[in-house]
Amino acid sequence: MEKRYAKISSAGRFLPERRLTNFDMEKMVDTNNQWILERTGIRERRILDKGLGNSYMAIRAAREALERANVDASEVDAIIVGTVTPDMFFPATACLVQKGIGASRAWGFDLSAGCAGFVFSLTTGAQFIESGRYDRVLVIGSDVMSSIIDYEDRNTCVLFGDAAGAVLLEPCEEPGYGIIDYIQRIDGVGEDYLHMKAGGSRKPASVETVKNKEHYVYQEGRQVFKYAVSEMADVAVEIMKKHNLTGDDLALFIPHQANIRIIEACARRMKLDPSKVIINIDKYANTTAATIPLCIYEAMVEKNQLKKGDNVVISAFGAGFCWGSVLIKWI
Ligand code: COA
Repeated sequence: MEKRYAKISSAGRFLPERRLTNFDMEKMVDTNNQWILERTGIRERRILDKGLGNSYMAIRAAREALERANVDASEVDAIIVGTVTPDMFFPATACLVQKGIGASRAWGFDLSAGCAGFVFSLTTGAQFIESGRYDRVLVIGSDVMSSIIDYEDRNTCVLFGDAAGAVLLEPCEEPGYGIIDYIQRIDGVGEDYLHMKAGGSRKPASVETVKNKEHYVYQEGRQVFKYAVSEMADVAVEIMKKHNLTGDDLALFIPHQANIRIIEACARRMKLDPSKVIINIDKYANTTAATIPLCIYEAMVEKNQLKKGDNVVISAFGAGFCWGSVLIKWI
């Protein structure tokens, strides 16, 4: 029997209306548009209104993906939400999405892998399709980074934004297409450089942790940058080599959008023409688990730039460290 692969059959997204530009940030911290643009590639980011949680965005992205596929929520078998900013520690955001969209037969879970959260969720969802167990899996990447950012810390506050993206996975009707392969890794060395100090079981929330601002993203940017540049490119090049693909054979590279310099260094290692690299960090900044599905949405829905047989490589790197690359033969 031919192996069954999963394909991305639809996509949806949610972008908060509120824009926070670099010029707005100049009024908040000691920074300037030129520094942010040159060092990161970011011009503006979206911010979710206070009082709304992750599931508000995730539900809307999921609904759009289902509508575009003409699939009823009751047909969804499983929901996986990649995120580091769930509405609450528990229940899982996946449960809130299940209720919100009315996925009456589904089960699901949240997956925590920082900026690689969507990639790990995508490949996990694909396994359920490949095994033959399920036919419809919703994979969502959604993060409200504004809920864990210190807007007095110029080192981190300029980098992140809020958004959600969703894709629907279904079985591929033709062999040899769909999500073909992936390479994924984790390395706990990343804990030192990128984490949230308090609020977990090791250091529960207290008056002191709030006073010490320990519920915000702590990042040693230069260290994270060093690892991101080499690891994200390593797995992308590794998956290309494994499948005998050169830069010329790729139609599109979808990188995690953390910093334009990381993306460009990665593309150079892959020997890619810049026109084949999706870049939208200028509009949305780093939306953590949402960057990759936002790029997929842009390529698939907004620009309609993917056609049957296109080789697409995705690569992401984030907290943990967690990182990975995925090869898709588009259908
Ligand atoms: N505006 C102005 N200056 C700023 C600034 C800001 N928003 N943020 C930092 N600076 C300053 C620093 O204080 C430092 O000043 P100093 O030299 O006087 O100490 C100077 O700019 C250079 O800082 P440095 O950290 O070397 O800059 P960088 O070129 O490494 O860029 C990041 C900083 C954060 C943009 C970059 O390291 C990065 O993108 N890291 C990876 C982040 C990431 O991807 N995280 C998510 C997980 S994937």
